[in-house]
Amino acid sequence: MNRSALEIRKEIEGLSSLPTIPPVVTRLLEIVDSEEISIKEIGDVISRDQVLSARVLKIVNSPIYGFPGRISSVSQALMLIGLSAIKGMLLGVSIFEIMQKTMVGLWEHSIGAAAAARLIASRAGLKDVEEASVAGLIHDIGKVVLGIRYTEEYRAVLERTGEEQRYVIELERDVFGVTHAQAGGWIAQKWNFPVNLVEAIGYHHKPALSREAGRLVSVVHLSDAVVKMMGFGFSGDPYLHPVERKAWELLGLTEEDLREVLSEMEDTLTETGSFEL
Ligand SMILES: [Fe+2]
Ligand SMILES: [Fe+2]
Repeated sequence: MNRSALEIRKEIEGLSSLPTIPPVVTRLLEIVDSEEISIKEIGDVISRDQVLSARVLKIVNSPIYGFPGRISSVSQALMLIGLSAIKGMLLGVSIFEIMQKTMVGLWEHSIGAAAAARLIASRAGLKDVEEASVAGLIHDIGKVVLGIRYTEEYRAVLERTGEEQRYVIELERDVFGVTHAQAGGWIAQKWNFPVNLVEAIGYHHKPALSREAGRLVSVVHLSDAVVKMMGFGFSGDPYLHPVERKAWELLGLTEEDLREVLSEMEDTLTETGSFEL
């Protein structure tokens, strides 16, 4: 393949939407943060789409989120999640099917990372735990994007990870010259995601590169490792990723904290089971 990273970026940004994303979500993704739109207005728009509303309610009432079984309306859900995490949550629940199609186990990997991110973020004292959880849910969106834009080539990449026992990002670099983290960051930026989420997606394999959201990026980086450690879902990698020292430093967690996160994760995942939307 002779495409440059810049060409790939343009081709990815040219994806105006992804299959299965309802038009309502595409419209909401295009809204810029600073635009005047209230939670109530967003809630009204979502409520008109029954499938989408049902999914939002199902996921916020699941053990992955912190309020199992207590949320009965979309607007209540949105109040709890907060404006900054809404876009990510809508994207996450809309791409459930394509995630499953892109890679068996990627959906489970993603909800596992969402659960881990919530636990790690609250332990590390991050202010916006919901944002962390949503960042966990969509951190690997770049895999979906590459899988859609370059279906055959990406399928080959995923096959080679097993055959050659190499990490997904290494093979992505070999084949595309860019990684799913970069691809995800570009699309998140194009969809006007808040900068925190853009960085959480774009730097989840290299938290030291984060400028604005080092702690959030570190949470996602560690969650990715935790969910792999638990053997929940599948991210395509044949081995665990080492956790970067910088991420530990930024989070200030002890070994004891990690042990507790792992044991809380076990409970959450047992309750969650195979969670489908
Ligand atoms: Fe990743
Ligand atoms: Fe991942």
